[in-house]
Amino acid sequence: KALPPATEQPRVNVGKLKNEHRPFELGRMFKEVRFLIAAVIGLLLVGVLADLAFPTLMRMAIDNGVQARDTNTLWIIAGVGTVVVLTGWAAATINTILTARTGERLLFGLRLRSFVHLLRLSMNFFERTMSGRIMTRMTTDIDNLSAFLQTGLAQTVVSVGTLIGVITMLTITDATLAAAALAVVPLIVIITVIFRRISSRLYTQAREQVSQVNATFQESIAGLRTAQMHGMENHVATNFEKEAEEYRRLRVNSHTAISIYFPGLSALSEIAQALVLGFGAWQVARGELSPGILVAFVLYMGLMFGPIQQLSQVFDSYQQAAVGFRRIRELLATTPSVADTGTHPGARQAATGPLELSNLTFSYTEPTTDTNDTPPILDQVNLSIEPGTTVAVVGPTGAGKSTIIKLLSRLYDPDHGTITATNTDIRDFPTNNWRRAIGHVPQEAHLFSGTVADNIGYGLPQAQQSDIEAAARRVGALTAIAAIPGGFHHPVGERGRGLSSGQRQLIALARAELIEPEIMLLDEATSTLDPATEAVILNAADRVTSHRTSVIVAHRLATASRADRIIVVADGRIIEDGSHDELLGTHGTYARMWHLVG
Ligand SMILES: Nc1ncnc2c1ncn2[C@@H]1O[C@H](COP(=O)(O)OP(=O)(O)O)[C@@H](O)[C@H]1O
Ligand SMILES: [Mg+2]
Repeated sequence: KALPPATEQPRVNVGKLKNEHRPFELGRMFKEVRFLIAAVIGLLLVGVLADLAFPTLMRMAIDNGVQARDTNTLWIIAGVGTVVVLTGWAAATINTILTARTGERLLFGLRLRSFVHLLRLSMNFFERTMSGRIMTRMTTDIDNLSAFLQTGLAQTVVSVGTLIGVITMLTITDATLAAAALAVVPLIVIITVIFRRISSRLYTQAREQVSQVNATFQESIAGLRTAQMHGMENHVATNFEKEAEEYRRLRVNSHTAISIYFPGLSALSEIAQALVLGFGAWQVARGELSPGILVAFVLYMGLMFGPIQQLSQVFDSYQQAAVGFRRIRELLATTPSVADTGTHPGARQAATGPLELSNLTFSYTEPTTDTNDTPPILDQVNLSIEPGTTVAVVGPTGAGKSTIIKLLSRLYDPDHGTITATNTDIRDFPTNNWRRAIGHVPQEAHLFSGTVADNIGYGLPQAQQSDIEAAARRVGALTAIAAIPGGFHHPVGERGRGLSSGQRQLIALARAELIEPEIMLLDEATSTLDPATEAVILNAADRVTSHRTSVIVAHRLATASRADRIIVVADGRIIEDGSHDELLGTHGTYARMWHLVG
């Protein structure tokens, strides 16, 4: 029979979490669930007491019931014993539920907060942080924290409570025997510490190695087509085998350590119990000790070794959780380099006015490592763009053309200088308001899995099918979309697999057109298209840029020649600026490029 649906609400203030900007602290996180934690600890102690009561009940049963041949006492003790066992069981059950609830609630909050934080971060964070690492933050690190919160903390309370209780009960039961029994404890602690050292080193190595195995795997699959084309499958396989073999070796070593430690520890604890039993039996024979006390004592000793092992395990899981915790805190402490602090209203209105780039200087490198030996990508660029005009940016690869576009859409902020729209610095607008006022068609637009219509409608979730079709019509893409099997309903694979590069560009253009932006930023794709598709794209680009301020990075001079104005960028500076005819007249770089292709 299927489990009932999980209806438990997270009872986390989601809205508050999403806007949480204070530094992340464990204390504050725990404070939110302090009553649950108190309940859990209380129940755990009930369980510990139940465990501890049992040997003493046995002792009373043997000494006062069995030895004294008193059935009544035996029945009473059996009754009390049943109640104790049932109480322990009930406490454990309620506790498991409460712990799961507490842990999952904390983790839900942490996961959501980390994710929302990632969404706020700027492009440069994702460029310098490998996506695999970000995934690790969201999976392994949060899971390790979860393991510790859900079982580690409870285990610590139980183990420490049990240890204190057992030692107390041993001493109360028989002080001489207790001294003998506790003599093995230092030995056990030393062995455990040594084992933990070895095993945690092996564990860390194995963990690093498994991420290496995964990285190799991911890279191999991503580059499989290239590998097959070059007949390099064997090489790829050998490479993978090497990493996997190293992982196997580390895992075997770590299991060897485990296989020596755990049985060794049980042997040691059994030897200790046997010695105490032997010594105690001798005392019982001489009438110096009651059999009940001896049985209770040996039972208590049996309870002593478990917690020591468990504490060492908890310590291990604590170390992993601490690593995860530190990394998540680091992640949450990363501030977006494009700060969203503007409050100025009217971004959209301002976008209809003139755009002014003044003294724009920008580098991708961090300002701290920015030494003077590398020239900036953009170096004091000045440019005024009249409202409603189209400016084409041309220049050699790596000149900084795409960078200008990215600064205009605030994917990055300039190091020096400003970009203003109708005389307001674009940093003074809330980032989202500014970005919603512009349409940005990047060189390689990202398509999501979903239909063609979903992808065109991406920026406007409330868009109707008719709006989507209208946008496609406005860019002149209807015929091209009709040619795709299924048309608007064609399912787009991950990242637009299964569509030609021309089709992907048209979808991206229609997507930008749908939101009816005031400014259009277009980074022409470099891919070569067949002449018919090229004409469709050129036409679509023409349509989206007409009647609005537009900046096009033009890889095709045909596109550039249609613009109102062309700027030629080289080495981060504008070296030519004018209309097509003017630039041809000056016989400069643009003219040379034009004659080269013409
Ligand atoms: N995200 C990035 N991180 C570091 N350097 C970059 C990044 N993007 C571009 N660059 C560098 O900045 C320079 C200009 O890039 P870009 O503006 O994309 O040139 P293009 O004119 O070809 O569009 C290039 O040298 C490029 O290597
Ligand atoms: Mg570019």
